[in-house]
Amino acid sequence: MTKKNILLLPGDGVGPEIMAEAIKVIDIFNEVNLCDVSYDYADIGGVAIDNYGNPYPDETSIKARKADCILLGAVGTKKHENNDNKLKPESGLLALRKSLDLYINVRPVFLFEALLESSTIKPEIIKNLDIVIIRELIGGVYFGEPRGFKDGTNRAGFNTMIYSEKEVSRISKYAFNLSKKRLSRVTSVDKANVLEASQVWRETVSKLHAADYPEIELDHMYVDNAAMQLIKNPKQFDVLLTENLFGDILSDEASMLTGSIGMLPSASLSDINGVYEPIHGSAPDIAGQGIVNPIAMILSVAMMFEYSLNNIGISNIIKTAIENVLRNGIFTKDISHKKDFVSTSAMGDAIIKEIKKDV
Ligand code: IPM
Ligand code: MG
Repeated sequence: MTKKNILLLPGDGVGPEIMAEAIKVIDIFNEVNLCDVSYDYADIGGVAIDNYGNPYPDETSIKARKADCILLGAVGTKKHENNDNKLKPESGLLALRKSLDLYINVRPVFLFEALLESSTIKPEIIKNLDIVIIRELIGGVYFGEPRGFKDGTNRAGFNTMIYSEKEVSRISKYAFNLSKKRLSRVTSVDKANVLEASQVWRETVSKLHAADYPEIELDHMYVDNAAMQLIKNPKQFDVLLTENLFGDILSDEASMLTGSIGMLPSASLSDINGVYEPIHGSAPDIAGQGIVNPIAMILSVAMMFEYSLNNIGISNIIKTAIENVLRNGIFTKDISHKKDFVSTSAMGDAIIKEIKKDV
């Protein structure tokens, strides 16, 4: 078995609490020799600003390049939220994504049957829900230049939404190829009725589809309509392909179909690298209370085993364990529709107990 070295970036807020549960899970598989994973740690986000004066310090960047893959908790602090952009915790995450060329963001949105009652949406609308959002992660308005402020009596802020054919093409290829392993259906989401960046997006997706993927069913949808359709009839979607900002917004919306934002994992991929993190943020309001749901983080570990460590077996064991725990009515506060709920570490322990039955 080849040894794999993963870099752990717990980050801010609830990040360290959910990371602790993720480590407990990986340790089990190490103990029974189903994998051979070693860890290293580094700082990112607010904690890195405090320790290094930089949300993505060189120490972290060097380790990130060397690691086989990366697990990340969350970034974002109240303390640094009014800092200049370069010294905001979120800039650390964006720098990590950009510097490793993580242009693919995979956000699976699926419902565990036991959480049918936890969602605010009617059960029949979400039963058996299983969609994947493919979000372009290092382009668009998040990174477009020019950006900045115009100072004066009527101060203004501005950003640039820009997409080139090459950027659209490479993320679209990923979505089309992924869809072949699913229902061969892609919905590309844009705002081509208003935005030039979206017009290039739509043209490029269509051209690529006609040339290389004619067998796949492709639809285009405006983002405002997509936001509405996600609530009205989410099961019409299989692979939802979209740009950076729209993907950020639609994935938070979609998470509520699954009961809680605490349920959704993600993989951010380049052609060679992978960073795995829950889609939720650092939740400073509940940090340190031991109540955060660790499932999105533990599902991110499952994605890491599947995508970077080529071990679909472990990935499936983790997912089955989570399914069983939820079926047994063990819920953290965010997904509990009853009065009682368990702590972060008790949820981690319950998942480990289920894993142990399988290994
Ligand atoms: C996400 C987060 C990040 C983003 C923030 C923390 C910069 O919301 O991963 O969805 O906007 O991409
Ligand atoms: Mg987000």
